[in-house]
Order: sequence, then C-alpha cells, then structure tokens
Amino acid sequence: MLIFSAPLPLFSARAVPRLQALSEENTPMSELLIASQMDASFNQALREQLAQSHPGARLIDVPNGVPSDLPPAASVLLGRPINVRGYQAGDTPPPGWPYNLRWIQVVSSGLDAYPDWFFAGPPVSTARGSASDPIAEYVLAAIFAYNKHLPDIWVQDADWQFTALTPVQGQTLGLLGFGSIGSSLARKAQALGLKVITLRQSATPPDVEGVQTARDIHHLFSAADHLVVAAPLTPQTRHLINAKVLASAKPGQHLINIARGGLLDQDALLDALDHGSLGFATLDVTEPEPLPAGHRLYSHPKVRLSPHTSAISTQTGEAIRAIFLDNLQRFVDQQPLVNLADRSRGY
Ligand SMILES: NC(=O)c1ccc[n+]([C@@H]2O[C@H](COP(=O)([O-])OP(=O)(O)OC[C@H]3O[C@@H](n4cnc5c(N)ncnc54)[C@H](OP(=O)(O)O)[C@@H]3O)[C@@H](O)[C@H]2O)c1
Repeated sequence: MLIFSAPLPLFSARAVPRLQALSEENTPMSELLIASQMDASFNQALREQLAQSHPGARLIDVPNGVPSDLPPAASVLLGRPINVRGYQAGDTPPPGWPYNLRWIQVVSSGLDAYPDWFFAGPPVSTARGSASDPIAEYVLAAIFAYNKHLPDIWVQDADWQFTALTPVQGQTLGLLGFGSIGSSLARKAQALGLKVITLRQSATPPDVEGVQTARDIHHLFSAADHLVVAAPLTPQTRHLINAKVLASAKPGQHLINIARGGLLDQDALLDALDHGSLGFATLDVTEPEPLPAGHRLYSHPKVRLSPHTSAISTQTGEAIRAIFLDNLQRFVDQQPLVNLADRSRGY
C-alpha cells in the first residue's frame, strides 16, 4: 500500500477531490477542523483514531499539491510534498494563504519539496523519524547484497562456480549525517560488527557509544567501505558529493544514497564508477525523479536503483498517524510541537 512519499504528480488520478465545501455556518467554533492531503484510506484510518482520541476533531480530504481555497474553519493542515515529479510551485502563495491555519504537519522528513512561502505562516512540523528504521534496514539490505553478491550467487543449473563473499563484520560504515536515520543505522550496524564513523553539520558528539567522528568529508570518504548519505538537501549541501570528494573514496567503496539525489553530482558519480576507485552505488534517490528513459544510471553495471522506496513500508501510515496524533495533542494543549522545521537551517 503506497501511503505518501513516493512523490505523486500534482492532481494525479490518486489525488482526492474535495468532498465538500465547508462554511463557518456548518462548523461549530469549538470543532477542530483538519484538512488532509493524504489518500482516502489513510484519512479513514485517522478519522477512526481521532474518534477515540479527539472526538471534537473533524477531518476533511483536500487535494494534494499547492493547498488552495482551504475552508476558513480549517486550523490544521496535514500536507504532502508539493515540488515533486518535476512540478515547481510558484514564488508567490495562492490567494488567501495561509488562510486560518495555525499549524501544518507535513508527512515528509525533508523540507526541500516545499516553496519558501509555505514556511512563512504557521509553524510547520515534519514526519522526521517515521521511517528511520525501515530506511536503516534498506541500507543494511544493500550492504549485504553488495558484499554477498546477491542476486548473482543463486544457481539455476549444475554449473556451480564458487565466489568468495565479503564479510560485513569488521568493515567500516561512514555516515554523512547523524540524525534520526543515521543514529538508527549506527546502532544496527554496530550490532553486526561494523565500525561506524560519521560527519554531521554541528560539532555535537554522536549519542551512540563507539561511533567515531570524521575530521572532514574527505576523511569520512577515505575511511568508509560503505558510505551512506543521510543528510538533508539544502543550498549548502547541493552537490556536496562532487568529483573532489569522490576522489577521496576508499578503493572499492559502496556509496548508498537514501537522502536526496541533489546531494550527489551524478556525472561525477558516473565518472568515479568508470574511472575512479568507487566500487558500486546503491541509489534510492536521484535527480530528477524519475530519471528520464535511457539514463546511464539505469543500465550501469555498478549501480542499483530503487524508486525512492526505502521509506515506504507496510507500517508507514501508522507511523505518520502516530506522529500527527502526538503533535495534535501538543497543539491542543498549547505545548511545543516535535520535529519543528527550521527553514533557515534547511531541516
Ligand atoms: N528516501 C526517503 O524516502 C527519505 C525518507 C526520509 C528522509 N530522507 C532524507 O534523509 C534526510 C535525513 O533524514 P533524517 O531523518 O536523519 O534527518 P535529521 O534527523 O534532520 O538529520 C539530518 C542530519 O544531517 C546532518 N547535516 C545537515 N547538514 C549537513 C552537512 N552539510 N554535512 C553533514 N551533515 C549534515 C545534521 O547534522 P546535525 O545533527 O549536526 O544537525 C543531522 O545529523 C532528510 O533530510 C531527507 O531529505 C529520505
């Protein structure tokens, strides 16, 4: 079941038409009205949970894309990424924005898929953490697939050739970014006997015992057998991984990008795979998404691509609803929201 993140085209066939136009006359002032851009099955499950936890709340379906003409009674927006699949919202908000919204909860972790004006109104909180464990598992699956030559080792006839498989234990995992995904992954990797080294934006020491801090990005790349990109896409991080950084990669390195395609200069990546010391790349994200037909990354023998799916699990909807309901209680109680977005920082 696809819930959100695999970015949807604006007003796709799956976009939910507005069910009804609400006016202030038919919405009691005491009622909390939530406008949700999520799909119908997600919204129905949330309605059932709201009936238990917040019987005074009502949820309406609104189309995804730029939130327009929201009913005056709506004080909360549950929003999906806007700038996806080639769509780019304009620099100016729709007339009336931000309507009477007092809080926006988005269902993504990153802030890169929204226009600036989206953050100029009420506070915006993110779904950071909702998919960190599934993404960490995806990364571990990619590491094992690379080291154990999956799926190539499975035999289909009597011609058995033996391949020496590389142990994961004792190798070094490099993490560019040590937030919710990075720390989840570090714990799981250490349990498998991997050493972990990281580089983050701030000088904050990693809160997972035994994790080393790299001096700089070149040190990080030179130390890692598997290098995972787990940092946000911001103006500062666009093409942070360029030819110079890739030239520092440990020979045979496996690069795994589960963050955003824009962090990586894809031409430099192809060059490093063809002529440099980079061993392999597993990419869950690219720029653009999807890549155009015939793009070299589809057919390169040292690349595996997945369609921005590492975060999407059978439990995604439940995880997002849990974050939303927790923040809803905070909103009602006038307590600080969790995962508040900081647009100036970019995450
Ligand atoms: N594939 C998917 O579907 C998917 C799903 C979820 C998230 N993501 C992407 O993954 C990113 C990370 O997610 P998260 O939940 O771990 O985010 P997070 O908890 O906000 O952590 C972000 C981390 O990146 C670090 N960082 C920021 N700028 C950096 C820089 N220039 N160099 C090195 N590190 C830097 C931050 O450093 P500090 O700790 O010092 O602040 C922090 O450790 C998100 O921003 C999103 O774009 C992708």
